[in-house]
Amino acid sequence: MSNQPNGPDELTNSQGHPVTNNQHVRTVGNRGPTTLENYDFLEKISHFDRERIPERVVHARGAGAHGYFESYGTYNDEPITNYTRAKVFKKGQQTPVFVRFSTVIHGNHSPETLRDPRGFAVKFYTEDGNWDLVGNNLKIFFIRDPLKFPDMVHAFKPDPLTNIQDMERFFDFVSQSPEATHMITFLFSPWGIPATYRHMQGSGVHTYKWVNEEGKAVLVKYHWEPVQGIRNLTQVEAEEVQGKNFNHATQDLYEAIEREEFPEWELYVQIMSDEEHPELDFDPLDPTKLWYKDQYPWVKVGKMVLNKNPEDYFNEVEQVAFGTGVLVDGLDFSDDKLLQGRTYSYSDTQRYRVGTNYLQLPINKPKKDVATNQRAGSMEYKVNKGPHQNPHVNYEPSVMGGLKEHNQSGVEHTPHVEGNLVRESIDRTNNFGQAGETYRRLSEFEREELINNLVGALATCRKEIQDQMVKHFSEADADYGKRVAEGLKMKADQSEMSSRGVLGNLKGEEGVHEANTD
Ligand code: HEM
Repeated sequence: MSNQPNGPDELTNSQGHPVTNNQHVRTVGNRGPTTLENYDFLEKISHFDRERIPERVVHARGAGAHGYFESYGTYNDEPITNYTRAKVFKKGQQTPVFVRFSTVIHGNHSPETLRDPRGFAVKFYTEDGNWDLVGNNLKIFFIRDPLKFPDMVHAFKPDPLTNIQDMERFFDFVSQSPEATHMITFLFSPWGIPATYRHMQGSGVHTYKWVNEEGKAVLVKYHWEPVQGIRNLTQVEAEEVQGKNFNHATQDLYEAIEREEFPEWELYVQIMSDEEHPELDFDPLDPTKLWYKDQYPWVKVGKMVLNKNPEDYFNEVEQVAFGTGVLVDGLDFSDDKLLQGRTYSYSDTQRYRVGTNYLQLPINKPKKDVATNQRAGSMEYKVNKGPHQNPHVNYEPSVMGGLKEHNQSGVEHTPHVEGNLVRESIDRTNNFGQAGETYRRLSEFEREELINNLVGALATCRKEIQDQMVKHFSEADADYGKRVAEGLKMKADQSEMSSRGVLGNLKGEEGVHEANTD
């Protein structure tokens, strides 16, 4: 303790007490023992003991930045208000955003060069409250039913016994999930390793809805296109980068923004009428499918610029919480089951990962006033009451000065739904059609990479799994199946000739461990 006032740059503990000695714990004599009333030490070490919160169960490794979104206000030559009344899309409207990019499967400090989808999550702090567009770089997904998600993630993450990611477990699941064939075709091509976060696309993946002033809806898909261009890595290039720097994507984003080379993306939207579209050979709500550009053009509706790095990684990038349920007036869900399953999962995990009052943190709270009747809970530090709300009235309805409901101006969108409650797949699964089309649309160089990467990964799997995968690839495209089968055959012949452990013939320098360093 000191009786001098503390200067602004001088160390205090969290109670504001000046710290006069940060080098030595308090002890009986300089050889100890230490004493337990040593508040500065106890406070410092117990805060340190709690410096980690659970990492995200998926997408644990990420990088983030602030910026803004500017709306062009038109859809082709029409006013965008013909389709959506969301204020974020008003002509010239600028909305602050926070974006978090991520890898999916491995933990918080894993390499950023791995073959994995990349997360592309955008929080728009709109004048109507927050809108989160929680997407990926690839435009489709592995599965279409949320009940399968925990199994999928278990199969993709490290083995619960060895803690090693195992392609046999990965393909065990995938070979029994034919709907994943399309996603696998993208993932094992160079599109599965974006070179940096600045050089990748983003996509909402799901079908959402836009709703106009009359309550009329259209189905929409969102896509981000990087103005910097798209760059992917081959497997060999990725290994080279990883050998030198396993934080390259975070570093690239951070340094580009520090250099004031602000990355930009344009937002494109595809529209379909709000119907089942029986004329299509796929279901428009199926997240394993693309809406081909030639049929459903991408139309530019705005651009996003990232121009500010976070001031603190933990506060902003780690504690930010995105959710697919976070929509504003004029934007709506579709009946995509995967989307609806996600919508429960995000805020549920965030109440556990960050805490009950996670929406009070500066990075998560809307930039407009919030007035609710929610009170208390762990770490509440601000009561979200209205400026004129009677502090005794934390309920509604009331005639004693409580909060009132908002009068919605636009007509509500009220889709009609009926049917039996069932546990069934959708009818138009068409699991292989677009996978084949994507295979044929890749360049020959990309196809070559795809085959090599698949063969490399499948070679570690048992024959039963290999055969099932070859069957799926062949259903997608005969040439696709044939090339994977041939590659696997060649690999099997080679491996009969040589068998080695994962470290191959790497040996430590002779005698190095003989030095007496113990
Ligand atoms: C993160 C669940 C599908 C994109 C997460 C998290 C969960 C989750 C629990 C961690 C959230 C947190 O701790 O804040 C699910 C479920 C899915 C699903 C249950 C399917 C049923 C998808 C799909 C996409 C996606 C289809 C892409 C369109 C993301 C992204 C993040 C994330 C980008 C990271 C957000 C961030 O940066 O904080 N997901 N997910 N997920 N998910 Fe999903």
